[in-house]
Amino acid sequence: MTTQLLSTSKPDLEHAAAIIRAGGLVGIPTETVYGLGANGLDPVAVRHIFEAKGRPQDNPLILHVSEAAELNRYCHDIPESAWILAQKFWPGPLTMVLPVRQDVVPAQTVAGHDTVAMRCPKTAATRELIRLSGVPIAAPSANLSGKPSTTTAQHVIHDLGGKIEAVIDGGPCQVGVESTIIDLTVTPPRLLRPGGVTLEELRGILGEVDVDPAVVAPVAPGMKPKAPGMKYKHYAPAASVIIVAGSRERAAAWIRRHFVQPNAVLCFEEELPLYRDLNPTVYGYEADVESLSHNLFAALRELDHPEIGTIFARCPEGGGLARAVQNRLKKSAGFHIVDADRAPQLIGVTGPTGAGKTTALRVLEALGGAVFDSDAVYHELLTTDNAMLDEIEQAFPGAVVDGVLDTRKLAPRVYGSPEAMKTLSGITHPHVIAELWKRIDASGAKFAVVDAIGLFESGLGKQCDRTVAIVADEDVRIRRLVARDHVTEAYARARIAAQKPAAWYADQADLVLENNGTEADFEAACRDAFSRLLSFQMHSGKDALA
Ligand code: TXA
Ligand code: MG
Repeated sequence: MTTQLLSTSKPDLEHAAAIIRAGGLVGIPTETVYGLGANGLDPVAVRHIFEAKGRPQDNPLILHVSEAAELNRYCHDIPESAWILAQKFWPGPLTMVLPVRQDVVPAQTVAGHDTVAMRCPKTAATRELIRLSGVPIAAPSANLSGKPSTTTAQHVIHDLGGKIEAVIDGGPCQVGVESTIIDLTVTPPRLLRPGGVTLEELRGILGEVDVDPAVVAPVAPGMKPKAPGMKYKHYAPAASVIIVAGSRERAAAWIRRHFVQPNAVLCFEEELPLYRDLNPTVYGYEADVESLSHNLFAALRELDHPEIGTIFARCPEGGGLARAVQNRLKKSAGFHIVDADRAPQLIGVTGPTGAGKTTALRVLEALGGAVFDSDAVYHELLTTDNAMLDEIEQAFPGAVVDGVLDTRKLAPRVYGSPEAMKTLSGITHPHVIAELWKRIDASGAKFAVVDAIGLFESGLGKQCDRTVAIVADEDVRIRRLVARDHVTEAYARARIAAQKPAAWYADQADLVLENNGTEADFEAACRDAFSRLLSFQMHSGKDALA
C-alpha cells in the first residue's frame, strides 16, 4: 500500500473521513503529537492500529472527540469535574480517564478496561475530520511502539509509510509532547502523564491531585501502572540515553570526560559554547521550556542512528511543562540519571622533575583525596589493554610481540622523532585517560587527584576542575636530583634540560606553587594552599568536596 499524503483542505479531509469510515488508518495532526487514527467504534480497524504500531495488546487507546458534548455518547457516570476541565482546557492537550465506557465502545479500543480515556484535540482540521467521519477516532501516537513519538507528517511516513492509508500533513505539532492524562475515576484525581496542561493548572481547579509514581520513577517489574503504557520502554532511540544533571559547567566537564566518538550530546542553546567541538544537537532554550517540548522528539529521532553509542542529554528542571519534558527524557533514558555535581572533582597535579610533586600529592591525600598516578596506569595498560596494544602494533608494526609491548623495539623509533612520539601518545593518552576516569568514578572519594607530568599535553588538564603546577628553580632541582637519585650534576642537568621549563607548566596551571625552600616549609605551604582551594570549590556550590 502507498500512503497518501493529504492536506488539511476540505476535500482532503472528506477523503480522509471516508477512509476512516471504511475502517482504514489515517495519520492525524494534533497540537501534541501525530496520532494513528481509526474508527474507535470498529474493533477490526482498532486491531489494525495495534498491528501497524506493533503495540502491546493490553495498552488501551485514547478516544478523540470533536467537542465535550460527545462524552455522553461514550461514557456513563461522568463526574462534574470532567465537565469543568473540558470547559477550561478543551479543545487542548488534556486527556481524561473517565468511568464506565458505553457499550458502543468495543473492548478492543480500551484493551478490556471499564474506563475510557477521552480527548478533544485543539487542531481544527482534526476536529473537522472527526465531525466528517461521524465516529470518535481512536488514536495512539503515530510512532512504532517504543520509538519517540512523531511531531511531523514526515516522521509518520518514516515509521508507518506503506502500512497506513494516509497521513494528513498539518505541519509540526505545537506542543510536541503527548497530552496530559488525568485519571478522574479515583479520589483524589491522579496525574498519569504530564503534558501541556500542567499539574499546577489542574491543582488550581481540582484541588488535591496525586502524581502517579510511574511519572517520576521506573515501573518495577510485575507492577501494573494505572496507565498501562507507562510500563513499556518508551521514546527510545537506538543509542542509550544518559541524563546528566547538575550545573552547566560540571555537567559539561562530566560529559567531556565520558564522551568518545561516536557519542552525541543533546543540550540547550544556552550551553552550546561548552560543547561546540562535540557537534551537539540543540533542542531549544533552557529558559523557554516550550521550545524544548516542541523539539524534543524531533531531536531524539535525529539521533536515532544505530552507530551512536550513547547520547548525553541535558534536561530542564522545575514544574509546569518542564515536568513533561523530564518525564519523556527520563523514560527515553530508562531513568539513567547522573548528577555531575556529586561526581568526584578532579585536581590535576603536574610539574617538572625535582620540583616537589610527591610532597604536594601526600598533602592532598591527607586532605581526603584519592591519588592516581597516570604513569603507573600507563605501564599497567601496556600489559593489560589489548585494544591499546593492537593500535600500537598497527602504527608501529613489530612493536608488540605475543601480546606484549617490546619497549626495546619501540623506543628507538619514537625517541628523537617528535612525529612518531605524537602518534604514540595519540594512541596511549585516550586509553590512559579513560582508565583513570573509570578508577576515579569507582573510587567514591570526595575528590580525586591525578599525578601527570603530561597533564596538559594529554588533554587531561582540560578535564580537571583545577590544575596545579609545582615548580622550583633549576639549580634547586638539580641539587635535589643529585641528592635523591645519586646522579652526577652533569647528568641531572641534562635530564632537566630535556624537559619543558618550569614556566611552561606555570603558564597553564590554575595554581602555581614554588618550592625553593625546605620540605617542611613546602608541606605547610601546600596544606594552606590546598585547604583554600578545596573550600573555594565548596563555596562555589560544588558540594562534592564538602
Ligand atoms: O497527545 C496524545 O495523547 C496523543 C495524541 C495522538 O492524541 N495520543 C497518545 O496516545 O499519546 P498513546 O496511546 O501513545 O498514549 C496513551 C496513553 C497510554 O499510556 C495508555 O496506556 C493510556 O494513555 N491510556 C489509554 N486509555 C487509558 C485508560 N482507560 N486508563 C488508563 N490509561 C489509559
Ligand atoms: Mg505513545
